[in-house]
Amino acid sequence: MQQITRTPAPSEVAEEWHRRAERAGLSRVMRASQPAELAAETTIRTIRLVTGLLRSLGDVGAALEIGCGMGRLTPAIAARARTVTAIDMTPRMLALARENCAHLSTVEFVRTTVQRLPWQDKRFDVAVCVWVLMHVLDDDEIAEACRAIAASARHLVLVEYEEADIPVGRFSRLRTVEEYLALLPGARLLERHDLHYGGDRSFAALIALDYRR
Ligand SMILES: C[S@@+](CC[C@H](N)C(=O)[O-])C[C@H]1O[C@@H](n2cnc3c(N)ncnc32)[C@H](O)[C@@H]1O
Repeated sequence: MQQITRTPAPSEVAEEWHRRAERAGLSRVMRASQPAELAAETTIRTIRLVTGLLRSLGDVGAALEIGCGMGRLTPAIAARARTVTAIDMTPRMLALARENCAHLSTVEFVRTTVQRLPWQDKRFDVAVCVWVLMHVLDDDEIAEACRAIAASARHLVLVEYEEADIPVGRFSRLRTVEEYLALLPGARLLERHDLHYGGDRSFAALIALDYRR
């Protein structure tokens, strides 16, 4: 018999992140089935990729980190930008990120969803978004999220799964970089890399955002 799996509603996705925030270590923000060494090694490679893409932009003033989770990447972003505003929708993740970044005076944290960024007039030099949009499942919500990003930043560093050997769960949705480019108004791909690990492949892209409201 064919099994029909319903797409979880945004409120169920939020509940899932409350649960994941209670896990241990990097399994809060990476596949729980992954060995800890692979998660640690992938984190180092991800930080290198994100840092390299930020370096291509030269001097970065204000950076927006979207879905900062436990603050795993925040210090690396803070090392390349004068200020970082890090957002996440999950209170426990933000609390962990605040602890992890307590030594950084240039980082501020805000609780919000990417779909409903609270800034009307502010434009960040760059937004950094790593393995977050793949968890925005609903078609209208992802369109809303991409419009909000394009209106808030001049560049985007985007890292998302494109392919997974081990099927992703019902709280993730794979999209190609081309699908994201089509959803982001005024987007132009400047640079892309592949990140392979544990049978999965993600893209890491630097995208210019030339969107006027
Ligand atoms: C896989 S974790 C990645 C965290 C971080 N970017 C990293 O790479 O370590 C996804 C994070 O995105 C947050 N998140 C998921 N959907 C979100 C949304 N619609 N708006 C804001 N944050 C969201 C979750 O709370 C979680 O902390």
